[in-house]
Amino acid sequence: MKLDRLIARHESTGRNRARQAIIGGRVCVDDAVETGIDREMGRFNRVELDGVLIQQAERLLHIMLNKPVGIVSATLDAEHRTVLDLIDDPDRHSLHIVGRLDKSTSGLVLLTNDGRWSKKLMDPNHKVAKVYRVETRDPIPPEAVAAFAAGFYFHTEDLTTLPAELEILSERSARLTLHEGRYHQIKRMFHRTGNRVTALHRERIGLIALPDDLAPGEWRILTDNEIQDSSSRIPKLPP
Ligand code: URA
Repeated sequence: MKLDRLIARHESTGRNRARQAIIGGRVCVDDAVETGIDREMGRFNRVELDGVLIQQAERLLHIMLNKPVGIVSATLDAEHRTVLDLIDDPDRHSLHIVGRLDKSTSGLVLLTNDGRWSKKLMDPNHKVAKVYRVETRDPIPPEAVAAFAAGFYFHTEDLTTLPAELEILSERSARLTLHEGRYHQIKRMFHRTGNRVTALHRERIGLIALPDDLAPGEWRILTDNEIQDSSSRIPKLPP
């Protein structure tokens, strides 16, 4: 809603009078005088008129969680514990999940109440990298690298997956970087090579890496740098 409209509505007055108040320097947005009558206001802006609070700013929250296996990536579930059950913040019910993980997958989950931030992070055009550690039932052959880079055709969605970078770490483990997020994508990709995923762990989304000292089930608020950088493309990992 535009600032003049918000003031007019709150004061039960016309937009002209609201505009006069704004132009006259009587309105503060986020603790600074605001004279732009048509500035768009959101729920995270604090607005004052003549020093009196008109709209309290909601608290912006950006959280990382180390999801343990067995926890559901949902905000509500009748049967299972959810990622939200692990977060003991008073505003946790305002959060949504930025990129779900399967119940059997562990690792980095981001949660926020900042829709613009999550939209940018998940925007298919930005192709933000998601990095996973994969353990498999059978050995991963060297040819798998080219197969993941070429992409797999998924009949149900009628699409070919974007090039994914597979780095073989040992006979049965690899690091895989995806630039999209489709339903059970990694499990389906390995299945197509005749193999099975036995363990899957997300290490990173964009530039946000799960820190070693965040134990399974633990969470923390993201730093300002993590929030700013999060939608940048990640640099190539060292060999
Ligand atoms: N791919 C999967 O198969 N599962 C996940 O949880 C994430 C990516």
